[in-house]
Parts: sequence; C-alpha cells; structure tokens
Amino acid sequence: MYQEIDLDRIDINVEPPIEEPDRQYYFMARCRQWVQAFERKNGRRPRACIQTFGCQMNARDSEKLLGILERIGFEETEDEHGDFVLYNTCTVRENANLRVYGRLGYLNTLKKKNPSMLIALCGCMMQEQEVIDKIKKSYRFVDIIFGTHNIFKLAELLYDRLEQKAMVVDVWESTDRIVEELPTERKYPFKSGVNIMFGCNNFCSYCIVPYVRGRERSRNPEDIAEEIRRLAADGVVEVMLLGQNVNSYGKNLENPISFAQLLKLVSEVEGIERIRFMTSHPKDLSDELIEAMRTLPKVCPHLHLPLQSGSSKILKDMNRRYTKEQYLMLVDKIRQAVPDISLTTDIIVGFPGETEEDFEETLDVVRTVGFDSAFTFIYSKRTGTQAARMENQVPEDVVKERFDRLLGEVQQISARVCARHLHTVQKVLAEEPDSHGPGYLTGRLGNNTIVHFPGDTSLIGTIVDVYLEESKGFYYMGRQV
Ligand code: SAH
Ligand code: SF4
Ligand code: F3S
Repeated sequence: MYQEIDLDRIDINVEPPIEEPDRQYYFMARCRQWVQAFERKNGRRPRACIQTFGCQMNARDSEKLLGILERIGFEETEDEHGDFVLYNTCTVRENANLRVYGRLGYLNTLKKKNPSMLIALCGCMMQEQEVIDKIKKSYRFVDIIFGTHNIFKLAELLYDRLEQKAMVVDVWESTDRIVEELPTERKYPFKSGVNIMFGCNNFCSYCIVPYVRGRERSRNPEDIAEEIRRLAADGVVEVMLLGQNVNSYGKNLENPISFAQLLKLVSEVEGIERIRFMTSHPKDLSDELIEAMRTLPKVCPHLHLPLQSGSSKILKDMNRRYTKEQYLMLVDKIRQAVPDISLTTDIIVGFPGETEEDFEETLDVVRTVGFDSAFTFIYSKRTGTQAARMENQVPEDVVKERFDRLLGEVQQISARVCARHLHTVQKVLAEEPDSHGPGYLTGRLGNNTIVHFPGDTSLIGTIVDVYLEESKGFYYMGRQV
C-alpha cells in the first residue's frame, strides 16, 4: 500500500511516467529543483499559503494539497504574503463565491509588490464554466486553475506553469478514478478527516454540489482501513469519515459493503478512540446504522442529520425524498437506540414557494426535535440547479425576517439542550490551547460540545475526564478530575 517515495531516487531526465501516483512524484521531484534554485537565490525556502473555503471535504483536500507542496520543499505560511497562494474555493452559496472574488482583488495588490508570486485557484467554484470565463477575462494575474477532480495533479500543474509562463487551466468535467498514496499534511496531529467517498448522486434541487463534485464514488474499504491504521500509528485518536451522503457508502463498489459494516471495520483499528462521520442523508439512514451507533463504543453519540425544511411540500420540491413525519419518526427511532445522542442539522430558509405555513412547519420540527445546534442558511439560487428555474422565489425581506426568527429559536433551544450534561463528569479530547487565557485548554465531548478547562498543553491529543462546572449556552467551563 502506502509507501514514502524518495524524490532523490527519481530520474527526472527521462520522460514522465504515465501511471499515477508515480507521475506526480516525478513532477514533485522536478518542482523541487525549482525550489532549490529559489532557495539558492533568495537565501530561504519559498513560502506557500492555502486558504480553504467551504466544507470538511475541502479542508481535507487542502491537507492533501499542502502535503504535496511540503514534499516539493515549500514552507507553510498562514498569511497571504507567500510566494505561492492557493485558494481552495466553495460555491455552495453565492456569498462563498463572492468572498473569493473579493479576496482576489486583495491578492492582486500583493502580487504587484511581489511579481514572482504565484496564485492558484482550485475547488468547487472552478468547476463552473462561467467562473473560469470571468477569471480569464478579469483576473488575468491568476496563474493556475484546477478543479475538484484533479487535485492530485498539483505538482504537474505547478511544473507546467513554471515552464510555460502563462496561465494554466486544467478542469475536468468528471472522473471515475481515485488516486491513492499521495502525501498529506494534517492540521491536527491527533485527529483527521478521512474521505470515504466523493461526489453525490442526490441532486437536491437547490444544490450545486453534484454538479461540481461529480457522481458518487466510494473508496475501497481496505484502502480506508489502511489509511486509518497509518493515522493511528502516527498518533491520531479521532477520525471523521467524510462524504456528502455517508449512508449510501459502498453501494456501488464491486464488492458492496454498507456504511455500518465500514464503521465496524474502522472500530477494529487499534489506537482510534473516537469515530465521527458527516453527512447523513435521512432518506438512507438504515436500522443497521442505528444498531452500529448503539453497539460500537468508539462511534461518537452525535448525528448530523440535515433537515433542510420541516414542510413535506417543500421537502418534495427540494427532492429530499422524505417527509416531515418520516424525519420525526427517524429521530424517535435513533433516540430510542441511543438516548443521549446529540442531534445537529442544516436548515434552508426561503426555498422557492416557501409560505408562512411551510416555515411554521420547520419551526415545529426544530421545537419538537430540540437540536443541539443547527446551521441555518438563507436559500441561495445556484445556476444550473432545478430550483434556480422555479418561479415564486420568496422576497428577500420575508426571507430575512424568517431567518432571524429561526435563528432566535434555534439558539434558545440549543442553549437549553446543550446544558443537559451540567454537573457530570465526561470524557473530553483536549484539542488546543484556549483563547480564554493562559493555562486553559479547549476540548470536545464525544457529542461534539466544546469544553474549556484549565490544563497543560501536554494534554493535547489525549482524552481526559472533565467535570462540567458551568454551562455557557454553546460550551462548558470545566475542570479536570
Ligand atoms: N451533503 C450534505 C450537505 C452539503 S452542503 C447533505 O446533504 O446534508 C451543506 C449545507 O448547505 C446543506 O445541508 C444545505 O443546508 C446548505 N445548502 C446547500 N445548497 C444551498 C443553497 N443553494 N442555498 C442555501 N443553502 C444551501
Ligand atoms: Fe447537496 Fe443533497 Fe448531495 Fe447534500 S445530498 S450534497 S444537499 S445534493
Ligand atoms: Fe462548498 Fe464544495 Fe463543500 S461547494 S460545501 S466546498 S463540496
């Protein structure tokens, strides 16, 4: 399986190999020559900065991109005054998109001061032709553009750019391949995301993800287990299994396997203490999965179960394929199996045709379920989706008013629900120094709630018992016992 490939042993005077990942290691070796020349000239290594927008998939992709850059010899820098700046973009809502254009303007001023700076764009936004056209026309200073299907090619694209000295654009419409065995650089030493599948087949009518991430593809369970064994050997205690709809994992593999079976496999990896996953689509949540959550102690008592709307009519128009009643029944079933589970959700306000009554149905579900937290979004029209062609878009002021009402409700409920473990001792994974003050750490309960407590940084990455002294609504203050 995975092996560290020694770049020094690659012959770069021959033609590049055709096979992946060998081809990329060859280009990493070639780019490294450029880095070494840079170092001789400037007396320092070139600095690379990656800014990530969007979801956990993008965050994980960025770790892979950084892994490649570090192998080439770049030094990571947090700010954008780097020699290579890469934006990994998101386009799920229009404001994600607008933020990138805003930041590009700023990058242009930096590049004017440092003309040898390289600017690259990748991620979901780049899968849209209109975006590419706009950048080619109005943002000529961008050096490299690639999409979501070929992030593994970063070294090759960088090499092309260094050779041709012109904008390199390489965006694939789709792919059926998954390139394994490339380096990654994790943000946290003790926890990691792990892709279990890519893409989405659901085509919820408001959503652009299936268009920019392509069709659903599951990784082989053996590759996933092997990656997790390696992570565990490297000090990782918590993994987050990532997919747009993890509940349909494995259905299209040559040897089909269910997500629940995958959880069992991952549970067997020694050293892994917590297993999380995102995201579950309610329509595919099986009894087998509920049973796995009940019986596998490493699987955290947290389920992110996007509701989107509480109105069965709107859900139908959203193409979500469940009703309000089915969602509520599912919640009951899960709570019976795992009574203390924490439930979180995503909700969209202002989907075309949403009436006051529809919105009231959403509020009703929010009150009935009592979510630990809910991400609330204002509906954003995405070009190419079914909903973008729907008439009766809801006026902006109506949406804003509903959004504020929903947010108020969600916050009030969440403050009450999150406090239910007050005055108990819970297992907390210590994650980072806390901004509350020196000597404090921030950690998370199994159900994902945040806890701040006094503690030494040497505890980071370990699971400790913490007494929850005070509830602050969305987080606790505690002390180690
Ligand atoms: N695959 C996940 C969601 C990925 S996108 C799932 O199905 O649950 C994350 C969230 O963004 C969605 O759950 C949805 O609430 C929100 N979202 C997606 N498209 C949107 C749009 N066009 N406008 C507003 N919110 C949207
Ligand atoms: Fe988008 Fe629906 Fe797929 Fe989630 S399941 S990514 S909301 S199309
Ligand atoms: Fe955004 Fe792409 Fe994720 S559109 S939410 S970064 S899959």
